[in-house]
Amino acid sequence: MSELLTESSVTGESLQALHRELDFYTVEGQRIVVPAIHMKNWGDSSFAEMHGLRYSYMAGSMAHGISSVALVKAMAIEGFLGSFGAAGLGLHAVARAIDELQRDLGEQTFAVNFIHTPGEPLIEERLCDLLIQKNVRLVEASAFMRITKALVRYRVKGLQKASDGRIVSPRRIIAKVSRTELAKLFWAPAPLAILDALLSEGVIDSKEHAIAQTVPLANDLTVEADSGGHTDNRPLVTLLPQMLLLKNEMEAAYRYQEPLRVGAAGGIATPHAALAALSMGASYLVTGTVNQACQEAGTSDDVRKMLAETQQSDLIMAPAADMFEMGVKLQVLKRGTMFPMRAQKLYELYRAYPDIDSLPDKDRKILEDTYFRMSLETAWQETKRFFAERDPTQITLAEKNPKHKMALVFRSYLGQSSHWANRGQSDRKIDYQVWCGPAMAAFNDWARGSVLETVSERKAGYVGLNLLYGSAILHRIRSLQFQGLKRPEWEALAKPMAEAKLRSLLENGRHG
Ligand SMILES: Cc1cc2nc3c(=O)[nH]c(=O)nc-3n(C[C@H](O)[C@H](O)[C@H](O)COP(=O)(O)O)c2cc1C
Repeated sequence: MSELLTESSVTGESLQALHRELDFYTVEGQRIVVPAIHMKNWGDSSFAEMHGLRYSYMAGSMAHGISSVALVKAMAIEGFLGSFGAAGLGLHAVARAIDELQRDLGEQTFAVNFIHTPGEPLIEERLCDLLIQKNVRLVEASAFMRITKALVRYRVKGLQKASDGRIVSPRRIIAKVSRTELAKLFWAPAPLAILDALLSEGVIDSKEHAIAQTVPLANDLTVEADSGGHTDNRPLVTLLPQMLLLKNEMEAAYRYQEPLRVGAAGGIATPHAALAALSMGASYLVTGTVNQACQEAGTSDDVRKMLAETQQSDLIMAPAADMFEMGVKLQVLKRGTMFPMRAQKLYELYRAYPDIDSLPDKDRKILEDTYFRMSLETAWQETKRFFAERDPTQITLAEKNPKHKMALVFRSYLGQSSHWANRGQSDRKIDYQVWCGPAMAAFNDWARGSVLETVSERKAGYVGLNLLYGSAILHRIRSLQFQGLKRPEWEALAKPMAEAKLRSLLENGRHG
């Protein structure tokens, strides 16, 4: 049995002393070295290099600007990647956010969410126009169930081959999926039928058409396990290895110029989870839920407070506004809000009746008095106003198809419930829709008793640094443990650290 001795005489149990123990120790007279990990090598540093980052750490998009301009900037300041939450926002709002990010970040990288909008291809086409026009070089593509023309156009327009044969990509995609069959689509070149159509329409030229067949749609693919919002609730420990194996197969099959990478998302809000994902082979980490709880997130203090109190049993799956008719669900908070129950009721009514006029009087009354707080006819007029700007074809469709009209009206409640939460509209607290994953509960437990327990101290960059730093420390602790050296007290080193202390450690080269 090895005996642990320390070079520096450890008198107390202060964190500093424990840190020293990790740095200098000898076993049976021999100094054993477990090198400090440099956080910039944590994961696959080629991810950071390709995207011009310091660390392979990303804050995923959060709809309706919850991943706000401020949040994306906070990420960039630390050398992380942030993706602006463009989903659900009008094009003008997205354009304003891009302008502000480009003005303030200069050459620093940021991404914008390119979300799939099934049944509304116009929205994707307009977003693609805007992203190309504004020269946005990186998107996080999510919710795709098939590859669309707009997404392909974003990726392949402007592809070139340099004189040395190297392919130059003006725009890149970080895809986010939860299923291997979708990963295959992103790691393959764009579908030939779509490339042919773009060529025959004169959107791309024959060079772009040819080069596009030699690059994947996305080199970077985030595997999203059980997370806040849209999720298949899969465990990361099973999904990540499958994606890593698939990545190897795809690399062998296609032999691209540049490597493919797998990022890990879903449940990452503690150093323990971060270390697990990186040890399994994730090239980069993606967080979501935990950033929503931070000060820079485009949400309300009401929501931040609810998130700070969240425990594992406070979550539930509820119908999603964007894919309501298909019965798609997403993970939300159930504690302190009636939203999940009301959204479920709306879905059941939608399934049971052909149109609004057929709703039983008692149900109609509940909807008008409590959910909508207006007549369903007024709710339809308001829904129409919303779609007049966003996608007028929906109004035409709804006027022909009363079931579709019912879906649009019901979806308007689901859509607004997110806005009420984000704005902190207190008279609608009972209807708040807050997307949240189990990561939140894990984070709250980890943060308990530390400075990060205080809601006002939760800043996204500082949280990210703490997660990476904690995981680097934990890695060393585990390395020692697997050599037979164990000291329970060391675990405390992976607790959140005060900001000034953490920054000074990083500046002085420890793990930095
Ligand atoms: C409030 C919220 C909104 C989200 N909105 C989007 C979105 O619009 N687009 C997207 O790609 N992912 C969205 N996500 C997923 C995150 O980008 C991220 O992949 C996920 O939250 C990671 O898992 P975690 O919640 O366990 O950290 C959202 C997540 C949350 C919590």
